[in-house]
Formats: sequence, structure tokens, C-alpha cells
Amino acid sequence: ASALDVDISKIPLGGEIRVLIGGKPFFVRHRTPAEISAAEAVNVSTLRDPQTDDERLHAKPDGTLNRAILVTSGSCTHLGCVPVGPAQGNTGDFGGWYCPCHGSHYDTSGRIRKGPAPRNLPVPDYKYVSDTVINIS
Ligand code: FES
Repeated sequence: ASALDVDISKIPLGGEIRVLIGGKPFFVRHRTPAEISAAEAVNVSTLRDPQTDDERLHAKPDGTLNRAILVTSGSCTHLGCVPVGPAQGNTGDFGGWYCPCHGSHYDTSGRIRKGPAPRNLPVPDYKYVSDTVINIS
């Protein structure tokens, strides 16, 4: 097992960084207010893998959720390809990520919305070391 500290203050608004931990990809996305609103506005009962946006976020040291920062696995839950996102100029039909292997679309919470993937992009174990640093394991 391994773990990695990520300085989230370095991620541009609307962008993401991609990291490898133990050979596996993870996304750390700095969501815009519009992306956060879109994630919160979804009727969860319509989702293939129902999860609220809040359930996919972790708390800062002061106990409040950091809604701007979303951390997910970077492996598509269909067959494990790495989806493209803002850095590749393609966030799919729901503004999150798009997996070009077989056409899965994920929303701004990393939830599966269209295509063959069965599950949301998993949220890994991570914790806030400070307001600006998270440790992903
Ligand atoms: Fe992503 Fe098939 S691996 S859609």
C-alpha cells in the first residue's frame, strides 16, 4: 500500500490533477461553482448508482465539507480505462468525465450517467492533512 499528499491549492479552478498511487490513477478536481450546483441538483433516485454529492465528499479539519474538491478513482468502472476530462477538453455529456473506450459519461460528482459503466467512479480513502493538503491512500 502507498499514499500520497496532494496540494489542492495548486489545482486550477475547473481543472484537475491526475496522480498515480500504487500504479492506480486518481483524479483530484477543483470544481467550479456551476459544477458543484450541477452535482447537487441531480435527482438521486434517477441514478444508476444512487449517491448524493455530499456522500462523495470528505470534511476539512474544521468538519465542513470542501465542496470544491472532488477526489475519485481514475479507472472507469466498466473495464478500467482512464476517462478523459477537462485537461483533454472533453468532459462528456454531463460535464464530468468521458470514457472513450466504450462511451461512458460521468457527471461533476463522478457518478455514472450514460454508457455501459455500472458504478460511479469510486471515492478513495483520503483525508485532509490541512486545509490545502489531502492524503490519498
Ligand atoms: Fe470505460 Fe468501457 S472501460 S466505457
